[in-house]
Amino acid sequence: MSAPNSNYDPVEVSALDPANVDAALADALAAVAGATDLDDLKTVRIAHQGDKSPLALANREIGALPPTAKAEAGKRVGQARGKLGQAFAARQSVLEAERDERILVDERVDVSVPALRRRPGARHPIELTAQRLVDAFVGMGWEVAEGPELESEWLNFDALNLGPDHPARQMQDTFFLDPVDSGLVLRTQTSPVQIRTMLEQEPPIYIVAPGKVYRTDDLDATHTPVFHQIECLAIDKGLTMAHLRGALDAFVRIMFGPDTRTRVRANYFPFTEPSMETDFLCFVCHGAETWGTAEQCRTCGGSGWIELGGSGMVNRKVLRTCGIDPDVYSGFAFGLGIERALMLRHGVQGMHEMVEGDIRFSQQFGMGA
Ligand code: DAH
Repeated sequence: MSAPNSNYDPVEVSALDPANVDAALADALAAVAGATDLDDLKTVRIAHQGDKSPLALANREIGALPPTAKAEAGKRVGQARGKLGQAFAARQSVLEAERDERILVDERVDVSVPALRRRPGARHPIELTAQRLVDAFVGMGWEVAEGPELESEWLNFDALNLGPDHPARQMQDTFFLDPVDSGLVLRTQTSPVQIRTMLEQEPPIYIVAPGKVYRTDDLDATHTPVFHQIECLAIDKGLTMAHLRGALDAFVRIMFGPDTRTRVRANYFPFTEPSMETDFLCFVCHGAETWGTAEQCRTCGGSGWIELGGSGMVNRKVLRTCGIDPDVYSGFAFGLGIERALMLRHGVQGMHEMVEGDIRFSQQFGMGA
């Protein structure tokens, strides 16, 4: 049984013993002073300001004192807790300032360090050239057509009037697929896209077909086994060679500038009749205008004209093969190699540069849109 309150001697409540309160405060202040960072201070706070800290215990004891003793004990403990609170606040701001300073140093960013440069890629000039030509024709209302690179022999040759024994069939050195009787080849030209389109669509037909083609050539300055062609085909009522010339002129102006124009020479292609070879006026020496000095022109070799590619009026036989009545419709077609056009236009020295895939080559021609 506990003693009555009147006999209670505060000095006997050890937690409230002035020496103990002072010691607890001194302990706590030392711990606060010794806290080296904010985490440390947090631990110190729990130990010396928390519910179970000596000063909190002392504070709790005050309630049990007789009224006469409460005031003095309350003042003593209150002052001690106040001093400790101030010490915590002061230490807290010192440690926060230190932390902020450390962050500024540790997380410093040296904006003068050269950055790792990741170069954006460049579209290949072949792609850009094809795209420019396609865009121009699309702008005139033509449509883009595509066909597979692995093509049936029938579409690549037979339907284009290059029958099995046709001598021109041997002219295009063909990659055949195993087994040879699979009837498949890597297309040697984009002309089969003409056939595919005519078989699928009713005239009028106006298509432009860019794409890869394959021939068994070794890679050298002027040849590559994989190259690109662009093919145009128009089938409508009343189309004549005048329309063909107009389309060819539009084509070379897009490709080589507004000052050029075409001339045509007789040639032979099984799928066109009549067939022509198209030349265009040299965009460097402008041929006729500077006839006198054309001999020096390295681009055209002095003739004033540069060979563009094949063209002609679509052979009636080809129209019939595709189910189009040649007495109602007529049409023209032309096709050419993009690499050659690009080499001419930009003075690219050899085919190697074109196929090596060095980004610096692509970057020379601009990144493209
Ligand atoms: N396909 C032919 C070749 O690769 C080029 C060609 C000639 C395409 C005449 C045509 C054309 O559309 O009418 O040599």
